[in-house]
Amino acid sequence: MDQSDLIKVTINGKDFQVAKGARLIDVCRDNSFNIPSFCYYADLALQASCRMCLVRIEKMPKLQTSCTITCTDGMLVTTQSEEIEKAQRSMLEFLLANHPLDCPVCDRGGECELQELTFDWGNLEERFIERKNARPEKYLSPMVANDPQRCILCKRCTRVCDEWMGEEAIEAGNRGANTVIGTFGGWLNCSQCGNCIEVCPTGTLLDGTYRHQHRPWELTQTVSTCNFCSDGCQMSLGSRGDELARIVARDRYVNGHNGEFLCVKGRFGHPFVNHEARIRTPLIRYKTGGRLVPATWDEAIRFTAENLDRVVSEHGNSALAVVGSPRLTNESLYCLRKFATEVVETENYGVSDTFSLKPFFENLGGQLATHRDIRFAATIVLIGGEPEELQPLTGKQIRQAVRNGGAKLIIINSRPVRLREQAAKFVHIRPGTEDAAVLALADDSSTSLASTKMGIATGDIEAVRKLISEAQGDLIFMFGSELSAEAQSIVAQFPHLFAGEGRRVLLHPLPLFNNSVGANDMMGVSAKQATDLFAGGKSIRAMIVAGDPRLPNVAGEDETPQLPEFIVLFEHFLSPISQHARVVFPAASYAEVDGTFTNNDGFVQRVRKAIEPVHQSMPDWMIVARLAKELGVDFGFERSASAVFREIGERVPAYAGLRYPLLKDESNPVQVKHAIAARRDLAGELETVRRSVEALSDDGEKILLTPPVGHELFKLGTLTEKVPQFRLLAAGNPTPETFAISPLYQISVDEGLKRVPAVA
Ligand code: SF4
Ligand code: SF4
Ligand code: SF4
Ligand code: FES
Repeated sequence: MDQSDLIKVTINGKDFQVAKGARLIDVCRDNSFNIPSFCYYADLALQASCRMCLVRIEKMPKLQTSCTITCTDGMLVTTQSEEIEKAQRSMLEFLLANHPLDCPVCDRGGECELQELTFDWGNLEERFIERKNARPEKYLSPMVANDPQRCILCKRCTRVCDEWMGEEAIEAGNRGANTVIGTFGGWLNCSQCGNCIEVCPTGTLLDGTYRHQHRPWELTQTVSTCNFCSDGCQMSLGSRGDELARIVARDRYVNGHNGEFLCVKGRFGHPFVNHEARIRTPLIRYKTGGRLVPATWDEAIRFTAENLDRVVSEHGNSALAVVGSPRLTNESLYCLRKFATEVVETENYGVSDTFSLKPFFENLGGQLATHRDIRFAATIVLIGGEPEELQPLTGKQIRQAVRNGGAKLIIINSRPVRLREQAAKFVHIRPGTEDAAVLALADDSSTSLASTKMGIATGDIEAVRKLISEAQGDLIFMFGSELSAEAQSIVAQFPHLFAGEGRRVLLHPLPLFNNSVGANDMMGVSAKQATDLFAGGKSIRAMIVAGDPRLPNVAGEDETPQLPEFIVLFEHFLSPISQHARVVFPAASYAEVDGTFTNNDGFVQRVRKAIEPVHQSMPDWMIVARLAKELGVDFGFERSASAVFREIGERVPAYAGLRYPLLKDESNPVQVKHAIAARRDLAGELETVRRSVEALSDDGEKILLTPPVGHELFKLGTLTEKVPQFRLLAAGNPTPETFAISPLYQISVDEGLKRVPAVA
């Protein structure tokens, strides 16, 4: 920072050089002066209602709220004195006037900011003897429970809901002493992120799925990475014994790139881990058409190795294929590739990701944008995709960049997505014409063709070009899974195409899975698409499938493709493809393994074992290593995921030199070094895209309806379908008979949606 940007502030007699414009409460805290607060929350609009953050500033007549003060040069500040403590104690006494003293039965007891402050000071008088405003506890949704009496009206929840989520689902109602946080109609119809629960400093908003189960201090906290979308949120897994009890993002445990943000999947999608339907032992189908029967590990490994050996000797190495899910850790994907290339020496291996990022990374012309870059970007161009539903942290960062940072957002989408309300320019195109948008941006001469196909005026394209050409600061291009491989290659080169003075051009792909980026890195350039391998017909005789790819036509609903005769599946649950498997190995979930995921920022982040593997399950990489050993190749990793990662650091160029100890600080994530490609001639890709755009129809309806909240988030997947609350959300988040009793007791969620009588 330039010296001229620094000013001098004196706090409790000590001088500090601080940035011009810094907020006093942050400066005090950064320099270890404790300032109590309830309503202040960094990066949210100011509320300034709790008056706990009082300080004395020389030449100012009264005590000041430090959360509203911007530092000025020469400011003299006192943070601790009898006068300040007296005022703060009075404020706390007021806050407790209506607060029930029920910490022993409150789920937040032990991690409540109100309780902490009250205990810190001790000896707090309570002079109010009036009757408290009693209100019943209730549920606001399957996920959010509410005890309104505990509310101190700091309004962190309402601001988070509005500013992060853009939902305004929760609001303060009534007036004066009767003010209460609630929702229209008493029932929350929102994305159920639970961020209002997370930021609530008291036990007013509570995790309805974990309610009254454990006290927070009974839980072991393990910092790990989310296993749902590609944003890679950092989170704390709270476990007790062999049970994963809850997930939070509290920065008291974690200080990752998502702060206290998690979405509904990350926070509430974990109960699949201890679900009773987890596969307990290895299973073997000894004869085609027979039943899967339990077997020992030794037996299943031997049976698999013998059959793989047989297939290779009868039909050659290429008759064996290896497919990994983009949900697996880098370590598991790396071992799968190693198995394919070094043990059975087949060229048939790949990832079951419908949105392959291979063309993007092969042409990558600039750096990946981090989520922090997005929050402070000047201009964001979003082509296709719907981050609010598919990469919710990215959605939140975009919203905040616009609302709190004044960024210009340009959206080119076939659906009037909710984020368009933040957009400086929304270009509403026909479905399936996203490639035309890329063509128009990359090639001026295609403006007219692309506009006709997209169903927009050429002026719309020109307006977008103008906004891009005027961009100063960070300009970020994001794109969704609608783009073809060629269009992806073109976007990957945008940093060269749109380079300009005063701006940095960054890229942010929106892949669909937690480790889509890592899967691309681990499998390398020779990897194939799983769909191509499954379509391999008779040439593929045996296949190792780690993680169910959920290929639509494998479920037997449509015409079943010619599946390999010998399928070996690693899974948590019996799934459609297990009907065709000859061997099923119980695979450990992300909560039971050590490893890493690489997110859409290119951050390689730790996955840490929170509980022992459930039943007899084993990490996918270890199953592969055991198979390799049975086939005569010792990977030499023993039981250590860090040994696998060490080899990744030696052999995968983008991960060169990385080791687990270098990844231990989640507040300082490590970005892998994807190779940056020089500017190249895109004539070939442009021609292919132009031809496919020419083939599009000149008319066609546009989608006029804004998709409802949760249309992607609440879709049931292999993991979330095991969570009863998600089944309720998927069934339309039905309102229960009475809000006082958990909806799970009132609505049967097993067979469709069926109400059951409320219990008393
Ligand atoms: S769960 Fe999320 S979207 Fe719903 S009210 Fe709370 S903060 Fe708002
Ligand atoms: S519910 Fe919690 S976060 Fe919301 S105003 Fe009340 S105390 Fe604050
Ligand atoms: S935004 Fe993505 S990474 Fe973050 S909690 Fe949700 S699903 Fe997990
Ligand atoms: S934290 Fe400053 S008024 Fe609440």
